[in-house]
Amino acid sequence: MYTIVLATQKGGSGKSTLAIGLAVAAQQAGHKVRVIETDRQGTLTKWQARRNAGEPIVEAVYDAKMIEPRLEALARDGVTVCVIDTGAGITASTTAAIRYCDLCLIPARPSVADIEATAPTLSVVRAWRKPFAFVLNQAPIRGGHRISDATSALDADAPRDIAEVLAQPFIMMRNDHQDALAAGLGVSEFDTDGKSAQEIKSLWRWTAGKLAGDHVMHEAGELKDASEHSDLEFPIMLTPPAEEPKLPVARVYPTWADNGIDWKAGL
Ligand SMILES: Nc1ncnc2c1ncn2[C@@H]1O[C@H](COP(=O)(O)OP(=O)(O)OP(=O)(O)O)[C@@H](O)[C@H]1O
Ligand SMILES: [Mg+2]
Repeated sequence: MYTIVLATQKGGSGKSTLAIGLAVAAQQAGHKVRVIETDRQGTLTKWQARRNAGEPIVEAVYDAKMIEPRLEALARDGVTVCVIDTGAGITASTTAAIRYCDLCLIPARPSVADIEATAPTLSVVRAWRKPFAFVLNQAPIRGGHRISDATSALDADAPRDIAEVLAQPFIMMRNDHQDALAAGLGVSEFDTDGKSAQEIKSLWRWTAGKLAGDHVMHEAGELKDASEHSDLEFPIMLTPPAEEPKLPVARVYPTWADNGIDWKAGL
């Protein structure tokens, strides 16, 4: 099972919107998907209540200690992708979600202030040595200069090669996202041929590619074979903090990273 967490301390960045969008896109790609919501605001639980379809099931898990056992249980149940939506701020449950994830996606609106606000989240991600990528969300359709200002801010914040930590494509600001959420749909179900649907499906493919070591393994059956490529480097790993983190790096269930991939291989 692959666990993806949407995290950033900044409120309103698009964590919940992207969690829903990616969960539905992964399901459409053939995965058995479960969503965990650690945010008491309950955006996803309310979304599910408006939804006619049963899948993907949204589970509320507020207790940080319960995240690891829930993930273990979901993996045993044959879930292939788990998406975790976290709340704003850095909380115990967000930290636990990051600790047990395979990839942390950090949504940010393309403004320097929003990018700068990701720093506390990024330091938790780095402490646990987790792969991560920024997702530029709510990008203005006519706003090239803002996007390039924002990516410069990202660049100043350490990444050596921005292309490797900037998920593609950027997700543009469109009403479809808000209308889909209100209708209990993923944006790729709302207007199946719309531009937002295409973007989120492409973002899922990019995400799946990262999880699978950047190989073209976008569909469910193919993702399972990622362990065969354990000698591949994982290119979104970046320079670790100067001091090694003191946190124990213990895992009790296997993830792709346990398949022999040296996390430093991509440096
Ligand atoms: N790409 C987009 N285009 C248009 N509206 C968007 C987009 N992404 C998110 N939104 C809207 O922005 C608002 C905030 O998004 P969302 O609730 O997903 O953020 P969040 O990071 O989960 O916030 P919180 O920290 O409060 O949980 C919502 O009204 C949502 O519909
Ligand atoms: Mg939210």
